[in-house]
Amino acid sequence: MKRLVVGVVLVLSVLVSCAFAASLKDMVIEKSFYGFTKDGTPIDQYTLVNANGAMVKIINYGGIVTELWVPDKNGLLRDVVLGFDTLAEFEGPNDPYFGCIVGRYANRIAQGRFTIDGVTYQLACNDAGGARPNMLHGGVKGFQDVVWKAIPMKTPEGPALRLKYLSHDGEEGFPGNLDVTVTYTLTNDNALKIEYVATTDKPTVINLTNHAYFNLEGEGSGDILNHELMIAADNYTPVDNNLIPTGEIAPVAGTPLDFREPRKIGERIQAFAEPPFKGYDHNFVLNNQTGELALAARVKAPGSGIVMEVYTTQPGVQLYTGNWLDLKGKGGKYYGQYAGFCLETQHYPDSPNHPNFPSTLLSPKEVYKQVTIYKFLTE
Ligand code: BGC
Repeated sequence: MKRLVVGVVLVLSVLVSCAFAASLKDMVIEKSFYGFTKDGTPIDQYTLVNANGAMVKIINYGGIVTELWVPDKNGLLRDVVLGFDTLAEFEGPNDPYFGCIVGRYANRIAQGRFTIDGVTYQLACNDAGGARPNMLHGGVKGFQDVVWKAIPMKTPEGPALRLKYLSHDGEEGFPGNLDVTVTYTLTNDNALKIEYVATTDKPTVINLTNHAYFNLEGEGSGDILNHELMIAADNYTPVDNNLIPTGEIAPVAGTPLDFREPRKIGERIQAFAEPPFKGYDHNFVLNNQTGELALAARVKAPGSGIVMEVYTTQPGVQLYTGNWLDLKGKGGKYYGQYAGFCLETQHYPDSPNHPNFPSTLLSPKEVYKQVTIYKFLTE
C-alpha cells in the first residue's frame, strides 16, 4: 500500500513538473530593438506570448504597452490598445499618455503643491499644457518619458517583464530617492497583471497607474460608446472646474456616473459634453477598500464579444473616455474623440491635500505595493 502511494505521488509530481515545463516552453519572450530616443538612448521592445497565444508588446521607454492582442469570440486575436508605431511619436508632444506607467503621482495635485512634515513642495503646473493650475501625471517629465531597466522573466504564471527605475530625490520636485519596480505578467489565463512596488529614503507621496486606452473591438475601429461598462463604485469624488476634487465623497445614485449595473458608455455621456470634461473624466470611489484584490470594473464590447475585467488593490479608478483624442495612431488609423477608454486604477486625485482621502504618503519604513489585473475573456 505504502509503495502504491509513493508510486502515485511520483507519477503525479512528474506530470505536474512536465506540465509546468511545457507551459514554460510554450511561452515566448523576445527582445528587439525599437528605436533611439531624441538623446540617442537605444530602446527595446519586448514581446510576451502566453501559452494561449495572447500577446503583449512593451517598450522600456515609459513602460509603454504598445500592443495587446487577445482573442475575440471567434478566437481571432485583436489588438485592444491604442498607440503609435514609432518611439518618436510616443516621445512627442501629441502623446496622450498611451499605455504608459504614470508616476510619481498619477492624476492631479492642485496648484502643484503639497506639504509633508511642515515642508511645502512645489511641482510644475503642467496640466492642459499649463492652462490649468495643477500638476498632472507626475509633471513635465513623468515616468511615461523615462527609460526603464528591463528584466524579462519566464514565470509559472506566464511570461513577465520587470521594469526598474530610480527616481532621484528632487526629480520633478518630489522628495526622496524613489526606487520603483513595475512587473507586467501576461498570465496564461489571458490577463495582463501589473504589480507596482516602491520604496523611498524620505517621506514622499506616490500614486502609480497605467494609462492604457482600450478599445475592445480593436484599436482604430471607431468609438467605444457601445461598450457596456460596470464599475463597482457607490460613490465618486466630485470636482471643480479645474478637475480638482472638492473633498466630498458623493453617491453615484441618480447620476450619469451610476455604473453599478452595466450601461453603455455612450448612453449618458452627453451630460458631460461640455469642458472641462467633454466626456467621462471622473474618479470613482471603489466599494472595495480592503487593499486586497477585488473586481473594480467589467467592460464588454458587443461586436467582438471581448470582455475585460479589472481587479485592483487600489481604492479608486479614473474613467477617462479619450475626450480630447484627435490624432493618427498605429498604421495611420485615425483616433477621434472616444476612440478608447482608460480605467486608471489609483488613489484619488489631489489626495495629498485631502486628509479625508486614503493616504498617498510613503515613509522610508514602508513598502508601496499595488496590483492591478486586466483580465480578458469572451461572451
Ligand atoms: C486625465 C485627463 C487627461 C488625460 C490625458 C487622464 O488621466 O484624467 O483629464 O486629459 O489623462 O491624457
